[in-house]
Formats: sequence, C-alpha cells, structure tokens
Amino acid sequence: MLYSEKVMDHFEHPRNVGEIVDADGVGQVGNPKCGDIMKMYLKIDNDVITDVKFKTFGCGSAIASSSMATEMIKGKPVAEAMKLTNAAVAEALDGLPGHKLHCSVLAEEAIKAALADYYKKQGVDPETVEGFSCGGCCGGCHDHDH
Ligand code: FES
Repeated sequence: MLYSEKVMDHFEHPRNVGEIVDADGVGQVGNPKCGDIMKMYLKIDNDVITDVKFKTFGCGSAIASSSMATEMIKGKPVAEAMKLTNAAVAEALDGLPGHKLHCSVLAEEAIKAALADYYKKQGVDPETVEGFSCGGCCGGCHDHDH
C-alpha cells in the first residue's frame, strides 16, 4: 500500500486542526513544489508550547504530516520544536512515498516560521537564537532575501 496506516489515520482524523486567536507565534509558508499553503499557530508559555493548531490547503500527506508534527511539539520546549525535521515527521508516520516527502517539509517550515514570529514578537532576532535555523523556510520567512 502506498500510504502507511499512520498516514491514513492522521489524514482521516487530523489532530490540532484550526486556529488560535491569541497565538504567540503564527507562521505561514507555501510549498514551492505544489503551491500549497500551510498556516501554523503556536501558544507558548515560559518557552513551552502549550497549544498548537494548523490549517492547510495542502494535500493528504501535508495534512497527515502537520497533524503528526503538531503532536510531536505539543507540550515540548521551544528548543525541541526547533529541532523537529520533516524526516523525523515522515519517520513517525512510518514513511511517506518519495514524491510526497516535500509535503512534510511544509509542516516543518510552518513551525519554524511560527517560532521565528514568536521570537520577533519578543524583540529577538530569530537568527541570533541558538539552534534556530531557518533551514530553507524561504517561502514564509519574508525577512530574508535568500
Ligand atoms: Fe502540496 Fe502535498 S502536494 S503539500
């Protein structure tokens, strides 16, 4: 079968869909490969992600990846969320077909963009935060020209 049971489960019952009105960080990125959009909302308290929600115009793999990614960072310190990679998300889903891996990048980048937004709101330049790498979130990180 093309998709793992976990992918199907998260696609059919996505966790943490929606938006947070008083979010501490909001990130939106577009996928250059397919043009799909992902928006991520973070509620952060004392550097811990207390709530996270997402909205996407992405495909099923993007929905499953974001659902899994939000589960993986919820309740975690910001420093840990910064390290989340799309590879780790794909692995947690028991894999994605190769041509769908780019969909999981959307989730990783939206989280990073939301964290960057969180730092900016605190008056901190995300680039100066240890361990933060924009890692190619060029789609959403409009403060960069690369
Ligand atoms: Fe666009 Fe998957 S095809 S996010």
